[in-house]
Amino acid sequence: MKSIIVTGGAGYIGSHTIIELLNNTDYNVISIDNFSNSAANSYDRVKALTSRSFQTLNVDLCNDNDLRLQLSGINNIAGIIHFAAFKSVPESMADPVLYYFNNINSLNNLLKFAKEKSIPNFIFSSSCSVYGNADELPVTEHTKLKKAESPYGHTKQIGEEIIEFFTRANPSVNVVILRYFNPVGAHISGLTGESPINKPNNLVPIITQTAVGKNSLTVFGNDFNTHDGYCVRDYVHVTDIADAHIKALDYLSQHKNKKNVSLFNLGTGKGVSVLEVIKSFEKVAQTKLNYKVGPRREGDVVSVYANNNLAKTELGWEPQFDLDAMMLSAWKWQQHLEQQS
Ligand code: UD1
Repeated sequence: MKSIIVTGGAGYIGSHTIIELLNNTDYNVISIDNFSNSAANSYDRVKALTSRSFQTLNVDLCNDNDLRLQLSGINNIAGIIHFAAFKSVPESMADPVLYYFNNINSLNNLLKFAKEKSIPNFIFSSSCSVYGNADELPVTEHTKLKKAESPYGHTKQIGEEIIEFFTRANPSVNVVILRYFNPVGAHISGLTGESPINKPNNLVPIITQTAVGKNSLTVFGNDFNTHDGYCVRDYVHVTDIADAHIKALDYLSQHKNKKNVSLFNLGTGKGVSVLEVIKSFEKVAQTKLNYKVGPRREGDVVSVYANNNLAKTELGWEPQFDLDAMMLSAWKWQQHLEQQS
């Protein structure tokens, strides 16, 4: 049986992708995580939602030797899906070196491993943050990348460039780069979702925590040059993102890619403001959210949303969840967490 290595498999998008891999493919799944921002109980939740088992390894991807040693016995690897990375915009502003060290070294080590093991397929988690404050909206895959607004976004730009040069030198490795817009929401069952061990910095977990009195939401600015003054993003459900990885694997394994590196935007195509997210949450949760408006956050892009035509036509990807469904699933997951505590 062919194996797929999923790095960051205990994390938010990684764990949702493992669920889809186990439920919808025959691949043997091997998850790698060092639990730097996730806990092992994330695997228990995955197990409860799937009927197949998977292997787990605790490896720090920045440790080249450990990576090789722990994966030495695994053969017939069809692909690597590389999620593992630090992903907080404000944390990266506060500690840029941490982000450059972790996100770049782990990618380099994995690419080296892919080359050594002749692994044919590689999927890289990139981000819409590579566009910076783009000159045109919605952004297509051909939109010129502006200067990154944060070290986090810069590590994704650098990662994409490393991959471009790597595949030129190693054309037997085929890569899909997926530029996620803003992944939110939780598994439709409400039994698993985003569960960072560090305090969340992302909007939606802060909203749901605020609703149960465990956090307090400050909106970072309402004086932007957008339709209502609030920052605009393209929110996309985490299971839609997970599904795109299954489609990207099919695309690569069926040799549908025309180039060694194929690049896709993963967003719904809708630009939604922070205020609209709050309103949607208040509607589905039937509650009034207590929040205040504060100053802008350093490193924030003003507005970005996707043209997703390429992912639709090339991968056959079609996002299924609208904003209300995203918020409802996130709320179900928060309520589940409350019942557990
Ligand atoms: C960024 C990336 C996204 C990536 C994510 C990973 C951009 C444009 N997007 O998302 O691709 O997946 O990092 O973490 O760089 N906000 C508040 N108050 C809060 C928190 C957030 O008002 O307490 C606002 C932000 O200003 C922003 C929006 O909510 O306008 C979304 O923020 P967040 O969830 O942190 O994601 P991004 O930084 O947009």
